[in-house]
Amino acid sequence: MHLTKEEEKIYSGEYGWSAEKAIRVIVKVGEAMGAERLIRISHAHISGVGYANIGESGISLLKDLVDSGAKMRVYSTANPGSVDYESYRFFQYGDLFRERQEEIINLYRKMGVQTFTCTPYYVRPPKQGEYLSWAETNAVLIANSIYGAKTNREGGLLALMSGIIGKTYYGGLLVDENRAPDVLVEFKSEPRTLGEYGAAGLLLGEIVKSKIPYVVGIPKNSKHEKLKTFLAAVGSSGSTGLVIFDKITPESAYYMGTGGSLEKIAIDEKDIKNKLENSMCTEPEAYLIGCPHASLELLKDLAEMVSQKNSHPNKPIWVFTSHHIYNEALKLGIIDKLENRGVNVFKGICGVISPLHKLGYSCIGTPSAKASFYLPKLAKTRFVLMELNSIIDDAYS
Ligand code: F3S
Repeated sequence: MHLTKEEEKIYSGEYGWSAEKAIRVIVKVGEAMGAERLIRISHAHISGVGYANIGESGISLLKDLVDSGAKMRVYSTANPGSVDYESYRFFQYGDLFRERQEEIINLYRKMGVQTFTCTPYYVRPPKQGEYLSWAETNAVLIANSIYGAKTNREGGLLALMSGIIGKTYYGGLLVDENRAPDVLVEFKSEPRTLGEYGAAGLLLGEIVKSKIPYVVGIPKNSKHEKLKTFLAAVGSSGSTGLVIFDKITPESAYYMGTGGSLEKIAIDEKDIKNKLENSMCTEPEAYLIGCPHASLELLKDLAEMVSQKNSHPNKPIWVFTSHHIYNEALKLGIIDKLENRGVNVFKGICGVISPLHKLGYSCIGTPSAKASFYLPKLAKTRFVLMELNSIIDDAYS
């Protein structure tokens, strides 16, 4: 790989241990990807924040980086942890777990990470064409597919290292020629509800795996929350980093009409319905909303629904969002409306990467296809995939 004079100095350790380690990791990955140079990025988004995910070895690496003076050279955000001081009364995973989780957040803060959410695009929406180094699959897919920004689907370590030197390797989805569609996928029937968008996304991810699909049949005026649910699901069941939606993705105009030579796949209403009914249990003990972190639009819809109820839910309803969206919702009176009806709203944490099974939960209701994919793996619970209105009806029955 060709390095500039300054990059060579970083590589040889003249700018300190952390910068040297960062550039060496990026060069190694970049060479494996066939990249010939590095490129500046404007935003790093890091995953690998949950104590349950990174454990003591992750903390040890973060400590070494902080002790060596590592600082983010570009605007940087990171995924949420599992629990914080405020949410501990609901999610009592033990004092050691909470202390370790707080330590991880503090170490990232010391390096200059600004906020902790899996929806960094609500805090700083990416610009079309700008280069990013983002981990967190829903964020990657949204940046590439909705905003037309350019990021690979990075691992948390690579994104962290990119933030430290403000650069990443110029390869993969950063290069225009690598962003062409491989397969044409037609949705014969438009998904309508949030649940259907999620189920459709899971199906697409399973089918295309790492290929880039050009997708026809998703309405141009689909709400952002629905596209987010769809793409979060694609990122869970598949490994692609880009979905080109006809008339939605900025690059779609360039590829429109080029589908003639591509492999073609059709997905019909029955396929989506089957996926939606694919739950693992029937009696949820709690409801989890906000995976990825809830948007203002979702919080508004939810507040509207619970305002129609005169009681409190008979099982916990947990809603997860970012600090940024929480503060906006607080100003608009949305948080009060939710809390007055017994909904618990948490900011800056994630319920899915948390050991919910340790609290005795075994069946969780959720409208999120992504949560349904990860709850059994990470929280060690089963799931019921439900529409939002069914959750509210069930919870207040
Ligand atoms: Fe976010 Fe946790 Fe879901 S990090 S995308 S709420 S698994």
